[in-house]
This record gives sequence, structure tokens and C-alpha cells, in this order.
Amino acid sequence: MPFLRGLKQSGHLLAVNDSSMKKRITAHDLTFETLIDSGEISAKVEAIGRQISEDYQGERPLFLCVLNGSFIFAADLVRASACECEVAFIRLASYDGTESTGKVKTVLGLDVPVKGRHVIVVEDIIDSGETMRHFLSDLKKMEPASIKLAVLLLKPEALKYPMEVDYLCFEIEDKFVVGYGLDYDGLCRNLPDIYQLAES
Ligand code: IMP
Ligand code: MG
Repeated sequence: MPFLRGLKQSGHLLAVNDSSMKKRITAHDLTFETLIDSGEISAKVEAIGRQISEDYQGERPLFLCVLNGSFIFAADLVRASACECEVAFIRLASYDGTESTGKVKTVLGLDVPVKGRHVIVVEDIIDSGETMRHFLSDLKKMEPASIKLAVLLLKPEALKYPMEVDYLCFEIEDKFVVGYGLDYDGLCRNLPDIYQLAES
């Protein structure tokens, strides 16, 4: 039995497993362990931000951030992109607990004109691809000049539809993750690292 140190952080019990150096947290009934640490995340987000600045030189892209999950990724990504840009938000939901409901609801509608704009959709995670497939098909009907996809996490094994991601931070295995904006029933969004559901 590895020695576990526990301390309270942001309402979660944070335990550091000294044998593997993985941090473990509990949220509701589940235990998660670190998958990607905050340093690795910022290095990747900054690299993607620089790439976007190069690709959109002389343009004024519109970052369309999908709430709630992308709020931290989006905040870091837009600050890492040096180009002149605008930022808008849309809220979609398809998840209930750790399971996709398969139904995509647009909770908060788009309130800026996108016709003729270069749009960069900013999404936290693509799992089955259902949410993006619905949203991208709606977005195309609004006739933007171009659409690109900036995504923090992609689970290739879970994809049900082919999905082209233009700016991707990390591919991960098909396990539920939390932290850096992603939640498990409302908890864990404030954690700086990304955590994966622990085996036991
Ligand atoms: P999809 O429609 O199955 O691709 O799911 C997309 C949405 O479900 C994402 O935008 C997330 O908000 C949520 N989601 C998918 N996988 C996870 C996960 O592992 N942790 C937390 N939220 C997730
Ligand atoms: Mg999302």
C-alpha cells in the first residue's frame, strides 16, 4: 500500500501518491489521477497560439469558444495568440455525468454575426464527435469565410465521425478526464492539471 499524503485544495481532497508521483483527487464518488500537468499544457497551448498568430497574419479571426468546458483553454489560447482577434462564446451540452447523452442542446445561442468571418472554434474535448458534428453543420449554414477547430483533447478511439482538428493539443485514451476547465458533474474545472479516471 503506497503512502498517501492528503491535503485540502479547492474543496477536493488532493492526495500525492509518493510511489508513482501521480496526484490523486476524489470528486463525488470517483477517483482521478494526473494525466497531463499544467507545465505541459501551457507549453502546448503557447505553441498553438504562436501557430495561430502565424496562420492568421493580416486577418482578424473570431475565436468562438464552446462553454463551459473550454473557458480556461480559451483564455490561455487567446492570450497566446498575438494576432488581432475577437472572442465570442456559445454554450452546448451533450453530457450527463460521465456518459454522453447523444443529444446536443444549444443552450446559449450565438450573438455575433459570423458571415464572412474567419472562425476558430475553441473546444475542450472531442469524444464521440457528436457535439462538433452538429455544431459545425449549423455554423456552416451561417456562411463564415472559413472554419478551423482548436481542441485541447481528442479521444481518437471514441470518435464516431471523422473529425479534422486543425489545432490539437493532446490525443488521449478513451477514459473520462477532468481539470483545466473540464468537469465531472460540476466539480474539478478549477484544477490546473488534467486528471484521468483512476483504474481502482
Ligand atoms: P462528444 O459530443 O461525445 O464529442 O462530447 C463532447 C463534449 O462532452 C465535450 O465538449 C465535453 O464538454 C464533454 N466531454 C466529453 N468527454 C469528456 C471527458 O472525458 N470529461 C469531461 N467532459 C467530457
Ligand atoms: Mg465542450
